[in-house]
Amino acid sequence: MTALIQIRDLKVHFPISTGLFSGSKGAIRAVDGVSLDIPKGQTLGLVGESGCGKSTLGRAVVGLTRPTGGEILIDGEPLVRDRRVQMIFQDPSASLNPRMTIGASIAEPVRLNKLRRGRAAIEARKYELLDLVGLPRSAAHRFPHEFSGGQRQRVGIARALACEPEIIVCDEAVSALDVSIQAQIVALLEDLQARLGLTYLFIAHDLGALKHISHQVAVMYLGRVVEIAAKKDIFTNPRHAYSRALLSAIPVPDPAVEKQRQRILLKGDIPSPANPPSGCRFHTRCPVAIDRCRSEDPAWTKIARNHESACWRASELSDLM
Ligand SMILES: Nc1ncnc2c1ncn2[C@@H]1O[C@H](COP(=O)(O)OP(=O)(O)OP(=O)(O)O)[C@@H](O)[C@H]1O
Ligand SMILES: [Mg+2]
Repeated sequence: MTALIQIRDLKVHFPISTGLFSGSKGAIRAVDGVSLDIPKGQTLGLVGESGCGKSTLGRAVVGLTRPTGGEILIDGEPLVRDRRVQMIFQDPSASLNPRMTIGASIAEPVRLNKLRRGRAAIEARKYELLDLVGLPRSAAHRFPHEFSGGQRQRVGIARALACEPEIIVCDEAVSALDVSIQAQIVALLEDLQARLGLTYLFIAHDLGALKHISHQVAVMYLGRVVEIAAKKDIFTNPRHAYSRALLSAIPVPDPAVEKQRQRILLKGDIPSPANPPSGCRFHTRCPVAIDRCRSEDPAWTKIARNHESACWRASELSDLM
């Protein structure tokens, strides 16, 4: 079975121009050769530090950013900007007009995409969407500022659902919310996935945020995916030094275990995506790098079914750190 979303060697480079007449001086390689598959009805969690290219990848998947190279196939067809692929953002206010009622904001995409015709049908759909995201019908007559962050995110989700999407890119959709509210929004997204068969690309900068919702997890570093695995394998058997460092940063609820937790602190800053290091891009910060890592780009090592790591030391990592 082919995956609903197939990303093949995707590159998104932003030219650096240093002034009006000086022309281009190289490029920021925000996404630099990423391949991923997301099966229909599943969630791929995408994790990595700030600036590694997660949002750029997400924007390419919704067709907001044009790739420099590679391709994105949706259901086997090259991606075009399409209502079937929607995005939800960290700050839903940014996509809501403060002077429009919630009802009008939700009805707008229904009307623009001609998904219902006639006032009564659009009205009915508006209430159906409010029900779907767990907002009271009275919300329709109110304005965005009258709602809490979590409720506003529900409005953002309703607005995305109004387009009747098959795929939703959730870009740090819960990162700004309190932990208890995060859990509610994640539960809502999971419920919607089960009811509507949605496929998610779920972006976060820490692994903890992905633990509940993901089926697979891809770890990204400096424009590349460095490890991809079923969720269980990433949390119990990470095989890239960078994934191990990310995992070691998650607090453990059990105080006894938490006391024993060894954080792997990475030295140095993230290198510039305009001038990535040779060999493995992570070698400048990797605690277990060897000579080969500095000169040769790591090949994919297959660890298990659906588990691959781009690390020269993947197979011996358990003994090293
Ligand atoms: N439109 C743009 N023009 C130029 N550079 C860009 C543009 N968008 C992103 N970048 C650069 O591309 C790199 C990746 O950015 P991106 O926003 O995709 O990272 P991210 O992983 O989403 O980070 P964060 O966790 O902070 O959201 C960064 O160096 C960023 O400065
Ligand atoms: Mg981002």
